[in-house]
Amino acid sequence: MPTAFTLERFLTPDDRAAALVADIRAGLTAVPKSLPPKWFYDQEGGRLFDQLTRTPEYYPTRCERSILSVRAADIARRSAADTLVELGSGTSEKTRILLTALADAGTLRRFVPFDVDEEVLAGAGRRIGVDYPGIAVHAIVGDFERHLALLPAGERRLIAFLGGTIGNFYPADRARFLATLRRIMHAGDTLVLGTDLVKDPARIVPAYDDSAGIGIRFNRNILTVVNRAVAGDLKPEAFDHVARWDPVNEWIEVLLRSRRYQVAHLRAIELTVSFDAGEELRTEISAKFRPAGVAAELAAAGLRPLAYWTDPRGDFGVSMAVSSPDELG
Ligand code: SAH
Ligand code: TRP
Repeated sequence: MPTAFTLERFLTPDDRAAALVADIRAGLTAVPKSLPPKWFYDQEGGRLFDQLTRTPEYYPTRCERSILSVRAADIARRSAADTLVELGSGTSEKTRILLTALADAGTLRRFVPFDVDEEVLAGAGRRIGVDYPGIAVHAIVGDFERHLALLPAGERRLIAFLGGTIGNFYPADRARFLATLRRIMHAGDTLVLGTDLVKDPARIVPAYDDSAGIGIRFNRNILTVVNRAVAGDLKPEAFDHVARWDPVNEWIEVLLRSRRYQVAHLRAIELTVSFDAGEELRTEISAKFRPAGVAAELAAAGLRPLAYWTDPRGDFGVSMAVSSPDELG
């Protein structure tokens, strides 16, 4: 049987390059300096992330997989989805659990993985097309902060946002993202949302600073992405990897800290950037949630929780929600 794989771009390579340049300019001239985490994920970043999820310290992937394995049949039955949309899909590895359950339930017709990184997306989408004959794979290159309204319609869509990626938004952006999701969800659509939960920081921090040093390479890779985009000479080895728990905001801050005073030239945009010794560049936050907080944020966005599950240890949460009809209009 021929496999049905199509790829659509809401973000063309040119748009992507322009957005990256704008973020570099804004982020590296700001005080303090920062870069958005979406630029971690070129092909090498995707490969390193995949390795990160397999380190002994990075518990979220294993926990979420165990929850999905136990609940997949329930999710499939309750959603009765003909279309599975996955936001920030990456390799879609855990998503196969949902694909299998939905295919077994007999409702699934189409899988729509959506990611900002075309290479990882296309590779994963093609493999799934081969492994799930009878399901059309329609991959979309896009930015989930900009392009949710363009998602293809379905009779009943299950929208999955896994991995705790929602924790990578700042609170105001997170509220805006959930409100937008709510607005584009029709009656019959369901959301499955993965959230990493607050726990002893002594277990959270090592997940972002593993002993094999993959986190270091992953974090520094963003500088390689920048260098390639703007003909820069940032020196990744001249930055230390920092993962720090912020007890007030209950998030992990991931930073690159300059080992010494240094100057970098970003030739293609004629920008010179200097770093003081010890100066930090923030590359990501990863917020951890409390179950009541997840419920409150869903409700505030007009999403009605149907179910909430955790692994036995309560390390990770998976919520299922629909748009609440009383909020319609
Ligand atoms: N869902 C997978 C991957 C999580 S890593 C899992 O659970 O393991 C986060 C993924 O989101 C990466 O593949 C990255 O490319 C993608 N991503 C990050 N920011 C994005 C954005 N703004 N729009 C679309 N995809 C984004
Ligand atoms: N999005 C992932 C998260 O919030 C990113 C991540 C996992 C990460 N491990 C890391 C980032 C190590 C930097 C270093 O969990």
